Amino acid sequence: MLVTGKELLDHANKHGYAVGAFNVNNMEIVQAIIEAAEETNSPVILQASQGGIKYAGVEYIAQLGKVAAEKAKVPVALHLDHGTDFQQIMLCIRHGFTSVMIDGSKYPLKENIDITKKVVEVAHAVGVSVEAELGKIGGTEDDITVDEREATFTDPDEAKLFVDETGVDSLAVAVGTAHGVYKGEPKIDFERIRTIKKLVGIPLVLHGSSGVPAEAIKKAVEAGINKINIDTDLRIAFTKAMKEFLRDNPDNIDPRKILNPAREAMKEVIIEKMHLFGSSGRA
Ligand code: G3H
Ligand code: ZN
Repeated sequence: MLVTGKELLDHANKHGYAVGAFNVNNMEIVQAIIEAAEETNSPVILQASQGGIKYAGVEYIAQLGKVAAEKAKVPVALHLDHGTDFQQIMLCIRHGFTSVMIDGSKYPLKENIDITKKVVEVAHAVGVSVEAELGKIGGTEDDITVDEREATFTDPDEAKLFVDETGVDSLAVAVGTAHGVYKGEPKIDFERIRTIKKLVGIPLVLHGSSGVPAEAIKKAVEAGINKINIDTDLRIAFTKAMKEFLRDNPDNIDPRKILNPAREAMKEVIIEKMHLFGSSGRA
């Protein structure tokens, strides 16, 4: 069933686990996520990035997400990931997204508060949840790149002010992760997560979570993370399985045969993540 992001994340916050938010671009990815969620009896968030919307179109993404959610035996939220523009956020709400992110992290604090407040006012009026971002998460997610030298950790006192002023439902924090493939091992500032959580109380979101070692993910959840974003790990699983299939079956020209192993490979990765995040059995 289709639910709001707030519904899922408030439950996770209360019970100390995290909900996986996986990026979707086509039907096979959506199916892999839903099948994994049903097998593990896990709540889940389907999210579309700027690149995902550009690739598939907001109407296709929204319909895919809604059909999947309505058929699913587990609660599913449909979320806009890294929304940067007010018009696009409104369009997503109109098409049935139940959660949106306004990423104003590139702006100074005051502007970030202003744009986030504006989104919260409209979204809450129609029952849609809002995630915002404070601090700058490094790396590349589709068209958005933040240079390592420009990445800045979230300041706990600013986070408190930001949450009080905006009334946002969840907050993405910059605590040492980065989007994309890691060069070395990410160093997560768990103490910072704990401090921010103590001050704001609302669900915290970890971006750039692909490639983060299992132990670090567990510690981040214990420290107060309730939503974990995964994109790159699915891309890797998809591409690896597809390449292997084509290597072993060079004459196969059936897209269904080619895509099926990719869908299965993603599903395995997602099942593992759901166990790790503690969302299994929470649906
Ligand atoms: O917003 C999406 C995520 O933060 C995904 O990051 O591609 O490093 O898993 P990732
Ligand atoms: Zn992200």
